[in-house]
Amino acid sequence: MDATREIEVLIRAKYPILFISSWEERRVEDAIRKVCEKLNRQVHTWSVTQGMQPAVRRASGPVKASSLPGELEALAQIHESAEFTVFLLKDFHPYMKDTRVIRLLRDLAARLRGKAQTLILVAPQLVLPVELEKDVTVLDFPLPEQDDISRQLDSVIAAMKDVPNVDVSLPDDLRESIVRSAQGLTADEIESALARSLVEEKKLTVDKIIEEKKQIVSKTGMLEFYPSSSSMKDVGGHDLLKDWLVKRSKSFTDAARDYGIPFPKGILIIGVQGCGKSLVAKAVASAYNLPMLKMDVGRIFGSLVGQSEQNMRRAIKIAESLAPCVLWIDELEKGFAGMGSGVSDSGTTARVFSTFLTWMQEKTKPVFLIATGNNVQQLPPELMRKGRFDEIFFVDLPDTKEREEIFRIHLSKRKRDPKKFKVAELAKATAGFSGAEIEQLVVGALNHAFFADREVTFKDIKEEAETQVPLSRMMSEDITALREWATLRARPSAKLGED
Ligand SMILES: Nc1ncnc2c1ncn2[C@@H]1O[C@H](COP(=O)(O)OP(=O)(O)OP(=O)(O)O)[C@@H](O)[C@H]1O
Ligand SMILES: [Mg+2]
Repeated sequence: MDATREIEVLIRAKYPILFISSWEERRVEDAIRKVCEKLNRQVHTWSVTQGMQPAVRRASGPVKASSLPGELEALAQIHESAEFTVFLLKDFHPYMKDTRVIRLLRDLAARLRGKAQTLILVAPQLVLPVELEKDVTVLDFPLPEQDDISRQLDSVIAAMKDVPNVDVSLPDDLRESIVRSAQGLTADEIESALARSLVEEKKLTVDKIIEEKKQIVSKTGMLEFYPSSSSMKDVGGHDLLKDWLVKRSKSFTDAARDYGIPFPKGILIIGVQGCGKSLVAKAVASAYNLPMLKMDVGRIFGSLVGQSEQNMRRAIKIAESLAPCVLWIDELEKGFAGMGSGVSDSGTTARVFSTFLTWMQEKTKPVFLIATGNNVQQLPPELMRKGRFDEIFFVDLPDTKEREEIFRIHLSKRKRDPKKFKVAELAKATAGFSGAEIEQLVVGALNHAFFADREVTFKDIKEEAETQVPLSRMMSEDITALREWATLRARPSAKLGED
């Protein structure tokens, strides 16, 4: 059911208080006015700056100048108003901490029902004191859908068509790509993006929308555009994982669809710290030549409690609107940790998590999810169920051969010829070192030699390795547990040889 229809049903069914959480006050108000016109109800709006508009005519006589604070006065007016009215209170949520306001709203709830009146609260953030949970119905007001965007586009074109030097022609394929790329934005954001496009480019372009989206993506703080900084060549070892990924690089094309291949859903990479999980994730986007978004799950659960589910849905919507793309969730367990641990956040984590799971299961848009993590204890088992990820990979410490490769990669990266460094010997001397630690050995040796005013040698690296204790030695129990977990549930990222 669409939101407008739902509002209509709830008003007719005499639900006393609705809470609509949305940034789009204007669209919400338009929808409410439309419904009220149809149902023949009068609409009053209230905001702290405008007060009640139009003023309420009281049954008890003309409005007297009131000494009450604005928010209480508004509720008092509603209390005394006549039948068949709808009150739209904008940004009323800051006052809902006040016990008098809460009590008044509870009193009103019963009264409004009897008089066929509806109080609608609209705010960007869902704030609901427990006392009001039973009296208030919460509604989600979704962002503009394709049809809405298309209509908005028409009205922009109609408004601009006579402006000289502006080209508002819109071939079907351009319309389609604008509509697709504008999804996930609010109506106001779409309007500004279109306006910017017309002002700066003198025509409608997708680029401006994408640009606007980048801005918005970064402003929301939950997603970030990630430049494809590394490629598969930067990843040492993990041959099976790389092979799996490379084999799917063509699966995003239309030709693959025609062939009967579904879009790859995504993978979960679990493994030992510093062994290249994040590195692989970063390389995927450039291997697939797709834009990459990184989701910060921590930010989704940011300070705005109550808005988390909405944040998650918005993040998903934005990611889908950029499809085909890669969505990277790093350190997955950090976001969804603590679920079911009894640490109460009123079930928010669980709800957001289930929104996410449902999306993963039912996702139809080509968003390739790549999730990485290293603490499996904190990951809810539902996540691992078949059908969520295409594959779960386990990334272990590199074996001798892989360490050789990693040494070569990092030496080359620092403009040194690996042939001059006896990498086979270095690899033998560094059993238990992770990729990140090998990189540190190379950097450490470089620093050492540079300080001594000479060129770096094999010996510098060897000595550096001798002074270091790899993390894996201190964490051997954790790593054993992780390996045990993985043997049953995950595919190894490489066929490991002898160490
Ligand atoms: N297999 C590898 N090949 C080349 N470089 C590697 C490899 N593994 C790690 N590195 C180097 O170490 C750095 C850190 O690795 P990365 O961040 O990918 O580890 P991670 O597995 O995500 O660790 P964490 O669990 O701590 O997040 C990389 O940027 C890269 O320079
Ligand atoms: Mg990482």
